[in-house]
Amino acid sequence: MSAKKNILWYQNAVFYELYVRAFRDSNGDGHGDLVGVIEKLDYLKELGVDCIWLLPLYPSPLKDDGYDISDYYGIHSDYGTVEDFDRLITEAHKRGLRVITDLVVNHTSDQHPWFVESRASRQSPKRDWYVWSDTDQLYQDARIIFLDTEDSNWAYDEKTQQYYWHRFYSSQPDLNYDNPEVAQAMLGVMRYWLDKGIDGFRVDAVPYLFERDGTDCENLPETHAYVKEMRRFVEANWPEAIMLAEANQWPEDVRAYFGDGDEFHMAFHFPVMPRIFISLHLENAQVIRDVMARTPAIPSGCQWCTFLRNHDELTLEMVTPEEREMMWSVYAPDDRMRLNLGIRRRLAPLLGNDLRKIVLANNIMFSLQGAPVLYYGDEIGMGDNIDLPDRNGVRTPMQWREGANVGFSEAPADKLYAPVIDSPEYGHKRVNVAEQRVNAGSLFNRMKELIALRKRYQSFFSGSQEFIEVAHPEVLAVVHCCDKGELAIFHNLSGSDVSFSLHHPPMQGAALTEVSCKDGRLSNPGQPTSAQVELDPYGSLWLLRDNSL
Ligand code: BGC
Repeated sequence: MSAKKNILWYQNAVFYELYVRAFRDSNGDGHGDLVGVIEKLDYLKELGVDCIWLLPLYPSPLKDDGYDISDYYGIHSDYGTVEDFDRLITEAHKRGLRVITDLVVNHTSDQHPWFVESRASRQSPKRDWYVWSDTDQLYQDARIIFLDTEDSNWAYDEKTQQYYWHRFYSSQPDLNYDNPEVAQAMLGVMRYWLDKGIDGFRVDAVPYLFERDGTDCENLPETHAYVKEMRRFVEANWPEAIMLAEANQWPEDVRAYFGDGDEFHMAFHFPVMPRIFISLHLENAQVIRDVMARTPAIPSGCQWCTFLRNHDELTLEMVTPEEREMMWSVYAPDDRMRLNLGIRRRLAPLLGNDLRKIVLANNIMFSLQGAPVLYYGDEIGMGDNIDLPDRNGVRTPMQWREGANVGFSEAPADKLYAPVIDSPEYGHKRVNVAEQRVNAGSLFNRMKELIALRKRYQSFFSGSQEFIEVAHPEVLAVVHCCDKGELAIFHNLSGSDVSFSLHHPPMQGAALTEVSCKDGRLSNPGQPTSAQVELDPYGSLWLLRDNSL
């Protein structure tokens, strides 16, 4: 995979978010590990994804599942060794799979030696590596993110009688990026992992790196300046590596993280995600069109990442209060399904385990510009366990086959890091990879087809994207245009058949090909003026006008 040619490899890549602890336990200790991931690389290749994103692997007391790092230069013993990690990178690359890892820049664990030293005394040389204050009254305009557990962003340290700043759990003190030593130390961490051959980082909790009184302490100019420094460093030494921003913000604010093409290569598009669920509920495509209309253009060489679910709660920060109430009442009717400002459920249960809706939601994601990111287990429609605390209910063992421990581990069931899902609807008998692989109509096979389809037509997704209105509010229609022609994609968000005539001038009178016609079709294609699009309930249709024909 040499330089220039693949330099923009990420722009149309399909990403797979993988939680190592949940994926495959190779040594029977009840925890998934890196060797287990190596065993399953061929599965990922078969699915067709291009890049794996690994959740944090570092040593950690696991108060926030590894997002509380106590050593940036190691691998958590549950996961294996640094040598296992090196082998994983080699084996993935051998198969043409890329690997990015989580980089947690904003905070460390309170057990990280930097913090242990910092809190030891006010005179500690590392005191200024974290944000300390005599009062808890500074930065009052900063919101609290973990609303269900924290009542302040300050925590009091008895011994040194000062407060330290934390945007997440109080066991995750924020690093002080005003201190150049901290900024430098994080570049050192990046160097270590990039030198190992990883293909980039998903950078955690980007907006919160700096604090300034009188602001909400998000997206500050200082943060952008540091991101530019990170980018220069990456670009100069590992030109193919990417930086992907986790910035749960409105598109206008996230746009700033692309800079002039000199900050992040990629950023998650948070606001479109809940709107896919809203539009499905309302059977109305308008909210998707609206949020895309307020999504600014981004510099060439940059790309959005789209997603439906991830390892966190389905966040409802980027919706109106009315939309949030609606999402809660529709998708989280039981209080236990709610967490902070979100919903702690997986994709299949959210969509009532209706295969048509699950495929449609994915199809919508795959038909938008941006690189789609799948969450492990959602490609087979895994369920969740709302009896587990925090976000653990969506992080249960991957269901490989029917039977003991779902093929995840050979450990006794009570030694597993989390129980496998065993409900009648989502348990191993109904939901597992082995069975879905051989069943042509399974979600797994539909996902494989969708990934292949998207990759076959990927050049269209680098051109222009236009949302067109058809006479039916329940239809989302998007047209991608490039020098090869036009690719028009139609989705029926409703549970009824829909049929309408195609009034998109570039496609009228042209020879059109149905490139995906499982649950939609074109009638009268020979008579372009009366060409009709017909969509089954929750059906989609991809139509191509090929310039070369
Ligand atoms: C991660 C969470 C984590 C938090 C604090 C996030 O945005 O996705 O899982 O708890 O950062 O690190």
